[in-house]
Amino acid sequence: MKPIPYGKQHITDEDIKAVVDVLHSSNLTQGPKIKEFEQAFCEYVGAQHGIAVSNGTAALHLSAIALNVKPGDKVITTPITFVASANCVRYCGGEVVFADIDPETFLLDINKVEMLLHDAPPDTFKGIILVDFAGYPVNLEKYRQLADEYGLWLIADACHSPGGFFCDKNGKKQLCGNGNFADLAVFSFHPVKHIAAGEGGMITTNNDKLYCELLNLRTHGIQQDKSKLTENHGPWYYEMQELGFNYRLTDMQAALALSQLKRAHKSLERRHQIAKRYDEAFKDSPLKTPSITDGVFHAYHLYVIRTEKRDELIEYLHQSNIMAQVHYIPCHYQPYYRNHGWKKGDLPIAEAYYQQCLSIPMYPSLTDGEQDYVIQTILEFFN
Ligand SMILES: Cc1ncc(COP(=O)(O)O)c(C=O)c1O
Repeated sequence: MKPIPYGKQHITDEDIKAVVDVLHSSNLTQGPKIKEFEQAFCEYVGAQHGIAVSNGTAALHLSAIALNVKPGDKVITTPITFVASANCVRYCGGEVVFADIDPETFLLDINKVEMLLHDAPPDTFKGIILVDFAGYPVNLEKYRQLADEYGLWLIADACHSPGGFFCDKNGKKQLCGNGNFADLAVFSFHPVKHIAAGEGGMITTNNDKLYCELLNLRTHGIQQDKSKLTENHGPWYYEMQELGFNYRLTDMQAALALSQLKRAHKSLERRHQIAKRYDEAFKDSPLKTPSITDGVFHAYHLYVIRTEKRDELIEYLHQSNIMAQVHYIPCHYQPYYRNHGWKKGDLPIAEAYYQQCLSIPMYPSLTDGEQDYVIQTILEFFN
């Protein structure tokens, strides 16, 4: 029996054809597929602008630069995320301040953030990076209100949540990454994510100025708008007006991502079916399954169960060829962040969560038979 991973890409013949078509074309990078993918993705998440980049980490890095994070600037984020969500602040020399999570949703706890802001001298913090952990959409409307009160920017790390939404106070659906509340939102197209491009990322925004700035930063800081050059020597002339990067996506990756985006709705539906079957199967077991508040449409990047017997269960599952995984080791446990003053005991709710959490297989191509085997193995462990 082949191991069943916790997450996996699904590549169809149509996806392969889309990549091969680009290989036969004249543009391997910076060609028409980039714009096409940016536009289609913006439509999918309801944002005005999209900037495709080489991966989600690059999206976070450019976002931190565009929002002007400077050495010493303090930025708040959650400890229960992939380290990249925090590292982007460090790339700019800023200071990461982790706040504890909500014990029900496992998202950054807005009350803890409010306390931090309230207790600090004015202008201590510059921004907040919010993460839709596992695909659970953060209520950004509430954070926008708080951010405006304290003059902060917001980055929404929506790497886990394309297609997810929360309902605002008027009951209106707010898709993750739609740019209505956060200044910038970032996505990843790593193979375990909803859309697999090998590597890939996207920044979405409704802010025209940030959009133009990000286009320049993606390509070495070279001004993309010819009308903004300080001189013009001729048709060959370009200007590098600030220090940027090569964080471009290739056309092969954009074509692959675009092809996958066409079935994103269907894939998300399948993730929901899988979640529902798990919810049902475990409802009378000692396991805790994800709890969802009303008005939230989860994107189920991960399906995280919790049990005090996590360590024994993961071993049992691995022996049974089920490659369950832990998401995440709290960022402040990492030696790098410990060297920056963080220690065990600083964030008790995140730490208690970490002791119990386990991500079990969740991906659209998981068959009912495979899922039955996962369920049966888990229930067997508890009997
Ligand atoms: C929440 C979150 N943010 C950022 C990233 C970074 O994305 P990438 O791997 O594309 O650089 C990831 C990827 O694992 C992630 O899970």
